[in-house]
Amino acid sequence: MNLACLILAAGQGTRMKSSLSKVMHPIAGVPLVRHVVSACETLPADKIVIVVAPDMKNVQEAVLPYPCAVQTQPLGTGDAVKAARGLLEDHQGLVLVLFGDTPLITPETLRSIIEKQKETGAALVVGGFVPDDALSYGRLVIGANGQLLSIVEAAEATPEQRGIKLCNGGVMLFEADKLWPLLDKVQNNNSKNEYYLTDCVALANQAGLKVVVTEMPVDDVAGVNTREQLASLEKIMQSRLRRKHMLAGVSMVDPDTVYLSVDTKLGQDVTIGPNVVFGQGVVIGDNVDIRAFCHLEQVIVDVGAVIGPFARLRPGAKIGAGAHIGNFVEVKNSSIGTSAKINHLSYIGDATIGAKTNIGAGTITCNYDGFTKSRTEIGAGAFVGSNTALVAPVTVGDGAVIAAGSTITVDVPSDALAVAREQQSNKEGWAKHFRALQEQVNKVGRA
Ligand code: UD1
Ligand code: CA
Repeated sequence: MNLACLILAAGQGTRMKSSLSKVMHPIAGVPLVRHVVSACETLPADKIVIVVAPDMKNVQEAVLPYPCAVQTQPLGTGDAVKAARGLLEDHQGLVLVLFGDTPLITPETLRSIIEKQKETGAALVVGGFVPDDALSYGRLVIGANGQLLSIVEAAEATPEQRGIKLCNGGVMLFEADKLWPLLDKVQNNNSKNEYYLTDCVALANQAGLKVVVTEMPVDDVAGVNTREQLASLEKIMQSRLRRKHMLAGVSMVDPDTVYLSVDTKLGQDVTIGPNVVFGQGVVIGDNVDIRAFCHLEQVIVDVGAVIGPFARLRPGAKIGAGAHIGNFVEVKNSSIGTSAKINHLSYIGDATIGAKTNIGAGTITCNYDGFTKSRTEIGAGAFVGSNTALVAPVTVGDGAVIAAGSTITVDVPSDALAVAREQQSNKEGWAKHFRALQEQVNKVGRA
């Protein structure tokens, strides 16, 4: 099909009031611009080029391996396309121009625009949509024969034009050989002194070219200009992701409270309780039960494990098949063996815990001495009593038992009992004697 995709991302994004480039703000854990790149990748496109501003190294990294063209000054969307001329001028076929700030665009919608071009042979197809509130979107002026005559930017629109419901969604498909001559004619004599890409429509009409509109679903082209819009797009993206996982066999007790990342991988028959947050890089095996109020990021959970409620799994946690991680347990950079149990109030960091080992309530791996991180290695079938502090680096052998309340600083051999706490002494009758004494003191006080 010979399709090049050009994603404009050099705008300042001033309405975000942020030191971060607008297109780097994330939804579902991924920068806005990367969502657009992903949609283009699945078309598939022969070429993908992104237009960035000179100071946007982070955007250039976020879109790798695709090349970026640099727009030296933000002189408008038309100027931005021109900036990519050097990278695209040889390209024959179609050029799809998209905006880096409309992250919800789907491959299906993009394909429908390409279909429309094939059907009509138009020199230019514009993706239109009907938003609830037309706000600052460009208005589409349609002629009697259905030809798109012009796009009037909100700032330029007459009160009558402002009443037009059909707006520019920011996706435009050009025949490559028509694009560059049209762009050469775009002027900046408008209220913003910008070169509007949207002026290409009226110019194409003047050149006698065919220009058509295809309507897109409103959710697909909602743009991010403000943080409020960022939040409302996150909502739409989250409901799409939840739906995808539920259709694939995941149960969610209260889907609206489950937050997913684009890359979250959930096995079949996974059950997710209310208020669970998946950061990036989470892989969950089949039949895992994730109970309410858990937070997971860069972790792998093997089949049949039970997580939470109220568990925090931090980067590098690997939870073995059938393991239990209970309430108020934090696991970081640790491997937890098959069917091991850490059920209550623990911090397990930089540790390896063997299969079927039981970690008692309140166990802490003391992995940090203020300068370096050290590992705790615990074998299989071990039993660590409640309120144990394991001062790393330290090793506990297979089948060892640690008495509750111990502070373990020395390696424990396999099958040994380690007790590392003050010996208890009982003073017979002491409490009774103490109470009698108190009674006497009270009597004297009252007399
Ligand atoms: C633009 C359209 C408008 C449409 C809306 C859809 C124009 C003139 N207007 O308005 O018709 O309804 O999008 O969301 O095209 N950009 C650059 N360089 C620039 C200016 C912008 O790369 O000099 C990029 C931005 O990073 C952004 C995109 O182009 O990703 C759109 O720019 P923005 O300023 O947000 O345009 P809108 O005012 O939203
Ligand atoms: Ca915009």
